[in-house]
Amino acid sequence: MAAPLEEQLPPGVPPVTYAPREPRLRRPPFVFIAIGVILLVASWVPLVLFARARVERSEHPRISIMQDMGTQPKFREQQTNDLFADNRADRAHVVGTIARGGTIARGGLQEDDHYFRGYTTTAAGKVEAKFLEGFPKQLPLLDDKFILRGQERFNIYCSACHGLDGYGKGPVEIRSEELGTPLNAKSLHEDLVRGRVDGHIFNTITNGIRNMPGYAAQIPVADRWAIVAYVRALQLSQNAPPSVVAGLETPATDKAQASR
Ligand code: HEC
Repeated sequence: MAAPLEEQLPPGVPPVTYAPREPRLRRPPFVFIAIGVILLVASWVPLVLFARARVERSEHPRISIMQDMGTQPKFREQQTNDLFADNRADRAHVVGTIARGGTIARGGLQEDDHYFRGYTTTAAGKVEAKFLEGFPKQLPLLDDKFILRGQERFNIYCSACHGLDGYGKGPVEIRSEELGTPLNAKSLHEDLVRGRVDGHIFNTITNGIRNMPGYAAQIPVADRWAIVAYVRALQLSQNAPPSVVAGLETPATDKAQASR
């Protein structure tokens, strides 16, 4: 075995000193690595559960940490309810009564075709709509107040697409054209729309037409008729025959008033 280094050096030569070694991190014990891997994999489990819960259907109400109104206790249709002798949650109409508010308010009997629908249907066989001309008699006087109400409602609900002037160039239309997907809201001054009977326009507001959505949910019946009256006034404003302009003839809305 060789002698230690110092002893082999010639005299007068200082011994070589080495820089101290960087301390090396020791590999953690296998158990730690195993536990780490297990925890990492376990952390995916909630994600998988969330993902599954999003696509799965369940009989139970969803778990809500904050109770919101979506989970309030209630009886759904066709369920049972011990409170009543017949155990039904649905209650039958009391014999001899009719729903309230059948004439004006929504949700009544809505028997009057003209007022509530603007058309009648043939009683038997194939159902065909016949749109009705003129304004129904349940409405208040077709005066300035009524038409101004219609103007206000039109500006709120219709002008976004049809424009304040009814030419079909409202902000929604303009934007849709900018985006390259034109809405094509109709001009209310087209011959086609001018020629529509009042009941047809009422029905367009109620149920929508082709690309236009219905507004029955937002606009009550009387207001829908007020809008029809205003649409007529708008149309007249852009298409008045010279005789009307000269004040020789009563405008159409007055005539409608007289013919009710
Ligand atoms: C969201 C945009 C939008 C709103 C709001 C809107 N409309 Fe329309 N309306 C349209 C579009 C689009 C058409 C054309 C439908 C088609 O031809 O496919 C149309 C068509 C019409 C027509 C012509 C239907 C026909 O062929 O006889 C009338 C009348 C009309 N709208 C009235 C109204 C009135 C009144 C309101 C307000 C209560 C209203 N619209 C609100 C988009 C709208």
